[in-house]
Amino acid sequence: MKTIRSYIDYLQHYQHSTDNPEAFWAEVASHFRWQKPWHSVLQWSFNPYQVRWFEGAQLNLSENCLDRHLATQGEQTAIIWEPNDPQAPVRRLSYRELYEQVNQFANVLKNNGVRKGDRVCIYMPMVPEAAVAMLACARVGAIHSVVFAGFSAQALADRINDATCSLVLTADVGQRGSKQLDIKAIVDEALAACPSVQRAIVLQTTPKGCPMHPTRDRWWHTELAQAAADCPPEPMEAEDMLFILYTSGSTGKPKGVVHTCGGYMVYAGYTFANVFQYQPAEVYWCTADVGWITGHSYLLYGPLLNGATTLMFEGIPTYPDPGRFWQVCEKHRVNIFYTAPTAIRSLMSFGEKYPAAYDLSSLRVLGSVGEPINEEAWHWYHDNVGRGRCPITDTWWQTETGGVMIAPLPRITVQKPTFATLPLPGIQPILVDDKGHEISGNPAEGNLCLKFPWPGMLRTTYGDHSRCQQNYFATYPGLYFTGDGCRRDEDGYYRITGRVDDVINVSGHRIGTAEVENAINEHPMVVESAVVGYPHDIKGQGIYAYVICSDAPADADEFRREVLREVTRVIGPIAKPDVVQLVDGLPKTRSGKIMRRILRKIAEGETANFGDTTTLLDPTVVDRIKAGAAGLRG
Ligand code: WTA
Repeated sequence: MKTIRSYIDYLQHYQHSTDNPEAFWAEVASHFRWQKPWHSVLQWSFNPYQVRWFEGAQLNLSENCLDRHLATQGEQTAIIWEPNDPQAPVRRLSYRELYEQVNQFANVLKNNGVRKGDRVCIYMPMVPEAAVAMLACARVGAIHSVVFAGFSAQALADRINDATCSLVLTADVGQRGSKQLDIKAIVDEALAACPSVQRAIVLQTTPKGCPMHPTRDRWWHTELAQAAADCPPEPMEAEDMLFILYTSGSTGKPKGVVHTCGGYMVYAGYTFANVFQYQPAEVYWCTADVGWITGHSYLLYGPLLNGATTLMFEGIPTYPDPGRFWQVCEKHRVNIFYTAPTAIRSLMSFGEKYPAAYDLSSLRVLGSVGEPINEEAWHWYHDNVGRGRCPITDTWWQTETGGVMIAPLPRITVQKPTFATLPLPGIQPILVDDKGHEISGNPAEGNLCLKFPWPGMLRTTYGDHSRCQQNYFATYPGLYFTGDGCRRDEDGYYRITGRVDDVINVSGHRIGTAEVENAINEHPMVVESAVVGYPHDIKGQGIYAYVICSDAPADADEFRREVLREVTRVIGPIAKPDVVQLVDGLPKTRSGKIMRRILRKIAEGETANFGDTTTLLDPTVVDRIKAGAAGLRG
């Protein structure tokens, strides 16, 4: 892999990547296995949006993750699986074993009618079979759509229907701490509303199993028993779709971000090697669930593309106690640890004694992802987990970017707490004001955009390219707009300040305010609602819902619980509001637009400085909301 080993290297690679992007990426791509070479490295336009990388080339991602390593490191561990129950046996899969399982499961997919281009939904707990499922899809050229197994049946059904999946891969149950999640029951409920699904293949993880639909459902193990061992990797065009991953935006329902085979592979592989400075034989642990982009790029594909040993953890940070992460680091001699600030903040609240109780001397590099890391959490992580020895790579990126975009390279970039620091080679960030004018010079603050394509960028939103154009390329024509605000300091270091659109980041999970509002509005007594984010000590942002009821509810607390149940039913528990305030009106302009700025301020606990409220239809509503807000945040 093309790797950066010093700051001088970084500067040179960066310069080369902007002077001659095609030559730069062609060289990076040459480290992978291609079944057919490309005839053009890059064709692109941001207006209208179209980007094509490595046109004409053919490859298979699973071949690059598995087959390519067999000769040199077939016996090396590819996946270490640490179960939820610390007493249960660990599973280890060598590259050869993973290769064999993926081949065989790829044949299961084929035996069940899956063909290149078909969409397969994966709704699974954090078990090695989830990784096998993803790689097997890639092997046969099926497009996987992994849905986090914390989303509700309705949210799952929406995603399955949007992608018209023909097959669902799932499991009987999932273990999360002391809770057991009835995954198959959620799938059953979802599939009642999914006419495209012909088949579900169900992994049995407990002796009890689960009820099976007589014609639709098949057991994973019985299907495997009937499948042949070898499945040659399907030749894929570089721009064939690899996967769809649903993520929330400012408006409407979550959209299916599409990544393609060639560019995604090159970008996930390149960034993993450089951002973590992975060394052969190291144990790398990313705590993200496979249901998120971090799980795709840095639990699975990035590490396997580099022949790394990746640790997959089934459980949660606080089970059986808040020392679990550190116990797992000690047990498996983890060298690189990658997690989200929300986990750090939550563990911080239990005190230093937990990390102090374990031998963390194997740790070499720490990573952070998903949301801005505040100074206090950064130092706690650095001092108590890294023991002052380990650099922290604060990685800024998005589902849409496919891989890390801005991050300090461990032991290469001089780090600065809370700064994602400098762009990786190939990445050209710019800050613009609200009119789209570039803000040059340092320091500067504005909306973060990218002015040049990179191989890992989204290609479209599934089934609706105009939505992709509208969401990312219309705000500032000619630029990809990230939705994030950002500051660049006097050293040219970037610090992401958070979303500037109607997306909130709750415990590192992206949630659209419109989605939560739509869910709340399903409650029969709700007339209208408005949802905003507010600063939350552990979650980063909390969800604050203002709700107008048709009649005053007899029991306000019970009504609030019903609202939470409604959101859990429509989206899932991760989107449950932290605060539900009953109001008799919303601050609207004469044209009917809700002034969210005011609602955000009230949610933040401000009591004055609401700015100009003279354009409001009824300015008195602000005082009433303010009065009602007192004491609600607890
Ligand atoms: C936020 C997660 C600050 C940001 C990989 C972005 C961050 C959104 C960071 C994408 C970071 C991610 N510092 N903010 N290091 N990393 N974000 O799609 O607001 O789940 O737009 O991808 O998370 O979230 P997503």
